[in-house]
Formats: sequence, structure tokens, C-alpha cells
Amino acid sequence: MRLAFSDVGSGPVVVLLHGFPLNRAMWDAQIRALAPNHRVIAPDLPGHGESPAPDGVYTMDEMADAVVATLDELGVEGPVVVGGLSMGGYVALSMALNHQSRVGALVLADTRAAADTPAAAAKREETAQAVLRSGDVGPVVEGMLPRLFSQATFRERPGLVPPLKAAMEGTPPPGVVGALRGMACRPDRRERLKEISCPVLVAVGEDDAISPRDEMKAIADALGECRFVVVPAAGHLAPYENPDAFNSALLDFLRDFPLDA
Ligand code: MLT
Repeated sequence: MRLAFSDVGSGPVVVLLHGFPLNRAMWDAQIRALAPNHRVIAPDLPGHGESPAPDGVYTMDEMADAVVATLDELGVEGPVVVGGLSMGGYVALSMALNHQSRVGALVLADTRAAADTPAAAAKREETAQAVLRSGDVGPVVEGMLPRLFSQATFRERPGLVPPLKAAMEGTPPPGVVGALRGMACRPDRRERLKEISCPVLVAVGEDDAISPRDEMKAIADALGECRFVVVPAAGHLAPYENPDAFNSALLDFLRDFPLDA
């Protein structure tokens, strides 16, 4: 599958992978902050944004393969920095484990290494069935939106909510269903974290209700060279809710662990 993507700036390559059911626009603030000194490649993952959304199950490994194919298409062969939020983090982990030579540093934001519990997988299938029945993504938006943001964001920066809601509503139903089913069957990566030898930044919004702080700290503890950052005044969408704090941690990390252009 050929993915739609943004390719902005020049310098060491940073690949940014969005969460579910969003698109590459969630990284706008990071693209602006990084582009003066980096080449930022932000794809729309399969089934999302402007990328194709065929019927089927989109596994995290297949999504990772599609990102690697995009890098191949662009002639980017050397190791890059790969950052992913939540579902994008599942894909980034797959890249780090299955395409090790392509990943020189990893950024895991508001994500998980564990698989779904059987109950969580069953809930995803229920949601997928509801989307198939209704023909729109309303059931996902209703279930997720209240849990995505911190209370501080809802209260103090409510203007951040409508563009995100619109991005969710714009994701095609087959893309939503395919990603739900792909996330439900993703493997438990916790035992394999020790195979990752590149530097890692683990960042979590202090009020993340979906990928809780303690769980992300456990990921950081299981990794070798890892920096752990808690992003204040943010929930599950830390880079989007508090770009100043997130970008400052990201830029520090990129400065301290530079990759060649
Ligand atoms: C996401 O933000 O990508 C989702 O919360 C991931 C998930 O549902 O596991």
C-alpha cells in the first residue's frame, strides 16, 4: 500500500506516526519545531487520513512494513528516528524490532507494550461491529473522545478538541475497523523490549487515562538507554495537548542522541 505523507525540512530524518483514528496533522506542532534542523516524514498510516483504506485487518507489523516501504520509496535507507503515539507507538515498536537497521532512535509517546487483554480485544470487536452497522465512526468518537484529553485541556484549551474530533470523524469506517482488529491481535512486546539497543525517549501525558504513566514507566525501566519524561497538563495526546513541553523534551533528546543526516 502506498501511504500519503508529509516530507518537510532537511537534516537527520525523524519519522512521526500518529495515533488511532487520527492522521498526520496531529504532528503539526512537532513538524514546525523540528523542520528547521531535521527532515520530518509523517505518513498517514494505512486506513487513516489520505492513505488507502481497503477492507481487511491492518496488523501493526503490516503498518510498519508500509512505513518502511515509504522510506524505501523516498530513498531513505539509513537509520532514522522513529516516533509514535499510541497506535503509532505500536507501529514504531514493530519497526524497532523487525526493521532494526532502519531505527537509530525511538520515541514512544503515550503507548503500550502489552497486548490487549481478551476483554479489551472483545470490546474492540464490539466497536468494530457497531461501526460496520452504523456505517460511520460515531461509536469510536463517542467512546474515545472523553478519554483522550486531560481535564486541563478540556477546561483551559477547549479549542484543541474540535480539530481532533474532525480528524477522527474523517477516518474512513473500513480504516477504523481494520485498525481496531489489527490492534486487538497485536502481540505482547514486553519480553522483547530488551532487544532494543538504540536510545529511546518515553514520554507520557501526566493524566493519560489510556496508556497510564506507571505502565509507561515500566516500559522505560525495561529498556536499556532510555529517557522517561512526564508531560504536564496533558492526557493521552501529550504532543498535541502540550507541544511546548513535549517538543522541548524531543529536541533535547535529538540533540543528545544525534543521527547523521
Ligand atoms: C490510540 O490513541 O492510538 C489508541 O488509543 C490506541 C489504542 O486504542 O490502543
